[in-house]
This record gives sequence, C-alpha cells and structure tokens, in this order.
Amino acid sequence: MKKILLLAVSALMSVFCVAQTKNVTRQKSLVLYYSQTGTTKVVADEIRKLTGADIAVIELEKPYSDDFQQTIARCQDEKGKGILPVLKPLKADVSKYDVIYLGYPIWFGTYVPPVEALVKKVTFEGKTIVPFCTFGSGGLEVSVRDLRKALPKATVKDGYGVRTARKDAVSAEVDRFLKENGYIAGKVESLPDYSVQKPVTDAEKKLFDEACSNYQFPLGTPVTVGKRSTKAGTDYKFTVKSRGMDGKDAESVILVTVKKGAKAEFTRVIR
Ligand SMILES: Cc1cc2nc3c(=O)[nH]c(=O)nc-3n(C[C@H](O)[C@H](O)[C@H](O)COP(=O)(O)O)c2cc1C
Repeated sequence: MKKILLLAVSALMSVFCVAQTKNVTRQKSLVLYYSQTGTTKVVADEIRKLTGADIAVIELEKPYSDDFQQTIARCQDEKGKGILPVLKPLKADVSKYDVIYLGYPIWFGTYVPPVEALVKKVTFEGKTIVPFCTFGSGGLEVSVRDLRKALPKATVKDGYGVRTARKDAVSAEVDRFLKENGYIAGKVESLPDYSVQKPVTDAEKKLFDEACSNYQFPLGTPVTVGKRSTKAGTDYKFTVKSRGMDGKDAESVILVTVKKGAKAEFTRVIR
C-alpha cells in the first residue's frame, strides 16, 4: 500500500515538474489563431505543444473560400463596403489569460481581416500579446506595428513569422523563438550580428537568385549584403531594390539562410 502511495506521489510530482518547466513564466497562456489553409495552424500547434498553453481558433460565421481569387474578390468587396467578416463567439475566455500567442496569416501586407475584426472587439487590456504569423514572403514587422496601434492597452511583443514554403523549419525555429524570449526554459545559441553591408558579388547575387527561385513574384535586385556564421551554416541579409505596388522605387531587406550541405533558402522580406 505504502509502495503504491509512493508511486502515485512520484507520478504526480513528475507531471507537476513537466508543467512547470514548459511555462517558465508560470503565467496562464492561450494560443489564439486564425488559419485559412492550415499553415498558421502548424505554428499554433507547435507553440501549444512547447508551452503547454490552452488553444482556441478564431472562426468566422461565413468562412472565406479556399480559392485564392475568390478570397481576394471577397476581401476587396468587404473593403469597398467598409465591413469586416463576422466572428463566431470565441471558445476561450480571454480574460482568464496573461499571455496570448496571437496567430494569423498575412494578407495584403498585414494581419488578416478576421484578426482585424477581433482587435476591434477585444482590447486585450493588460495582456501580453505574442504575435506569430505565416506569409508568402513577409509581413511580420508591419503586422506587429499595426497590432501595437490597434491594441494600445496591451503589451505587444516582437513576434515570430515564417514563410508558407518553410513549414519544415517551424519546429526548430519556434523552439528557438520561445527559448530566446524566455517563454519556455532552455538555452539557445546566441547569434552574432551581421557583418557590415558590402556590395554583392556575382556569387552572392547567384545565391540570392537561387534562394528566391521558389517564390512566384520578382523580389528585386540585391545591392548590398551582410553575413553571419552560425553553428548551422551562414545567414545573409541583403538590401534589395525593387518596384513597389505603387510603381515607385522601393527598398527592402531580404534574409537568406544556407544550412551546411543544404540549398540557399529565402527566409523572409522585411519591409
Ligand atoms: C487573400 C490573400 C492575401 C495574401 N497576401 C499576402 C501578402 O500580402 N504577403 C504575403 O507574404 N503573403 C500573402 N498571402 C499568403 C498567405 O499569407 C500565406 O499563404 C499564409 O501562410 C496562409 O496561412 P494559412 O495557411 O494559415 O491560412 C496572402 C494570401 C491570401 C489568401
């Protein structure tokens, strides 16, 4: 009997210890996200797994179509009429949580209309918001800036973003993001700064073109580049000249990574 009791206590202790190490801040956390085609859900599930947070989906009364063109058409129609999609009631009571991991795809350069509808309704006063997003090319920085404007009573942290084409990188990158920001326990390699920007060589231009070849739209011409070496390989930070949607000259930063023995990958655009 004594042995059974001891076993039960030790099992309970180990469950308790796992719960504690998952969430070092010991705050109550919720992963709250919208995903139309499942990419953002991959990140949401990873964050939930690593933090032990609760999870809830942002759902629409009338979901967007799975068809890209139809979604664009509906968004344009809604924008023209000045309306936002109607949300279903959230299945989580946001007021019970300290930290909200808020996830969304990037549409038209920033967070999706369903998240726009959410932040119009809920102030998230006193909450810590940790944004995460997925995108074809980029949009993390703009969406975080927009969230800070929309939620002045919340603390909106810098977030995590990943390209749809890089779903395979999510597990390692989310682990790193959560650890380096202290959301879960654990140490990560501290990365050096990029070297000073220098004009790109022909070899670096070729590497840039290879990295961007799986993206459907032209990303521009790399002008200068800075580099850093990591345990995994080499990261490149290109400054790129391109043409903006308004037809004017634009400049952006494009990150590329080359893991040892692997092909160059276009990580994201920073606008
Ligand atoms: C209507 C629409 C607009 C989009 N606009 C952008 C954009 O401005 N920038 C970008 O990088 N990706 C854009 N994308 C791509 C999505 O952000 C990307 O596919 C995302 O990972 C989808 O997430 P989900 O699978 O969770 O729905 C857009 C996609 C759609 C459907």
